[in-house]
Amino acid sequence: MKIAIMGAMQEEITPLLEFFGKYETIEFGKNKYYVTTYKGLELVIAYSKIGKVNASLTASTLIEKFGATKLLFSGVAGAVNPSLKIGDLIVATKLAQHDLDITAFGHPHGFVPEGSVFVETDSTLMALAQKVALDKKIVLQKGIIATGDQFICDEQKKEWIEKTFNADALEMEGASVAVVCDALGVPFFVLRAISDAADMDAGFSFDEFLNSSAKVSASFIIAMLDEIAHD
Ligand code: ADE
Repeated sequence: MKIAIMGAMQEEITPLLEFFGKYETIEFGKNKYYVTTYKGLELVIAYSKIGKVNASLTASTLIEKFGATKLLFSGVAGAVNPSLKIGDLIVATKLAQHDLDITAFGHPHGFVPEGSVFVETDSTLMALAQKVALDKKIVLQKGIIATGDQFICDEQKKEWIEKTFNADALEMEGASVAVVCDALGVPFFVLRAISDAADMDAGFSFDEFLNSSAKVSASFIIAMLDEIAHD
């Protein structure tokens, strides 16, 4: 079993690389992939750079070139559900692309022919995450994550995403990773810690909380690896 751990930004994987300490760095496709082992698990770690195209390339590379058989995404998100506060963890039950729009042809937002609005995450990884949360007494909210190539810092846009997709959080990579993993038959999981409320202060909040929230998410991923290695 080879496990991919993916983030979008350097800050999202730095806590993992610091924790593992030793790794081999392999360059491919204008990106770096970090290969290591942890408690007998083979790991490949990478950040994609922001956005759906970069995330799709990295997820595909992790699977097709590095042979990952599971993919765990770790990072930060903007809160849509007001119950989610800075640093809170959310794991996606399913994800949709909020900026995918061929409604001109009568399709719902987020839908393209032969696709689906939502892609569901792996139930075994979800169950594992819930066990870890329970054991460690960590509050882990489950919910819908909406993805698009836009940093959302606008109440109206946020409300539209909430209404249209029933979303709890939003970010810029998850749904594209979901499409890739689903197509290639690789179980995946998307974990995010809240960095902002996708409102007019989101830019400031993101800058302030990116590092701390990324660490919260990365620590949970490490706890999941402990559990996987233990099984
Ligand atoms: N990731 C974290 N916060 C975000 C926001 N407000 N919009 C898009 N992606 C994000």
